[in-house]
Amino acid sequence: MIQVSHLTKFYGPRAAVNDLTFEVKKGEIVGFLGPNGAGKSTTMKILTGFMPASSGSAKIAGYDVFASPLEVKRNIGFLPENPPVYPEMQVQDYLQFAAELHQVPREKLRTAVDHALTKTSLGDVRHRLIGNLSKGFRQRVGLAQALVHNPAILILDEPTVGLDPKQIIEIRELIKGLGGEHTVILSSHILPEVTATCERIIVISKGRIVAEDTIDQLTTRIKKGVIYSLVVKNPDPTGVAAIRNIPGIHTVTQAGPKLVIEVQSGTNEIRDQIIETAVKKEMGVLEFSAEKVSLEEIFLQLTTIETPTQSTGATV
Ligand SMILES: Nc1ncnc2c1ncn2[C@@H]1O[C@H](COP(=O)(O)OP(=O)(O)OP(=O)(O)O)[C@@H](O)[C@H]1O
Ligand SMILES: [Mg+2]
Repeated sequence: MIQVSHLTKFYGPRAAVNDLTFEVKKGEIVGFLGPNGAGKSTTMKILTGFMPASSGSAKIAGYDVFASPLEVKRNIGFLPENPPVYPEMQVQDYLQFAAELHQVPREKLRTAVDHALTKTSLGDVRHRLIGNLSKGFRQRVGLAQALVHNPAILILDEPTVGLDPKQIIEIRELIKGLGGEHTVILSSHILPEVTATCERIIVISKGRIVAEDTIDQLTTRIKKGVIYSLVVKNPDPTGVAAIRNIPGIHTVTQAGPKLVIEVQSGTNEIRDQIIETAVKKEMGVLEFSAEKVSLEEIFLQLTTIETPTQSTGATV
């Protein structure tokens, strides 16, 4: 449903999005997770045809976003970071306007608007001026306009930002309910947000994908495996590579002098091998410990790795 290939976007000399490649299948709910400035909104604006990419390609429902912008817009609902809601309009009128823009046939307008109002629990405020609504309610109006034409694909940029806890739960439930029939990609910088709503996450940092997995697999892998932390004086690449090559080692992620080593099972033998290899490669072991790592920490590790060490295997 969504195919992104080597997508890159430069703002002046800086790449905000750098060589992104990923796919979202029909009916999937995928979370686009990354810290502030990672390139989430930039990617979403390109996917929805609001902005051209510098290079690479993106297809939505089989249509190239650059070559067929109209077909793309017909197939997507977009909740941008700052929803384009008109303060002087009534909620219901605005949704009707949004439906008309998306070419919902005249005889179906009423039903489409009612549906969107019900789904986002906005029925009670349908005649209120948007400008007088609270921020959370305005966010819901943004979500309602993304849904009003019943698009196959929904692209939601931080859909629950500014909502209170009760509203967050409601909107998450709503998004979960969209899966299967709709294909959803939503962005967030909050891990619980994506674990609550998505089946799969794509972690993005500094414009690059640093991990991609299902929530289930990520969680099981972390539960099953053991994570060691090795801090060394000299984290040189040949030493790191030698550790990575030890059989039974899953991944080695480097953050400066610290190596986070994920293994299938924490046997004595593998511990000895890690230490022996570090000593043999004259890395100068300063610290070695087993860590219990939460998903939250994994996310932090993935997204705070220094750029020069990224090529040393920034995967979970
Ligand atoms: N119009 C622009 N001109 C120049 N630089 C930009 C522009 N828009 C975004 N950027 C830069 O591109 C990078 C990615 O920004 P983007 O808004 O895509 O990140 P994000 O992941 O959505 O972050 P956030 O979580 O804060 O919304 C940032 O470094 C940002 O400063
Ligand atoms: Mg953003």
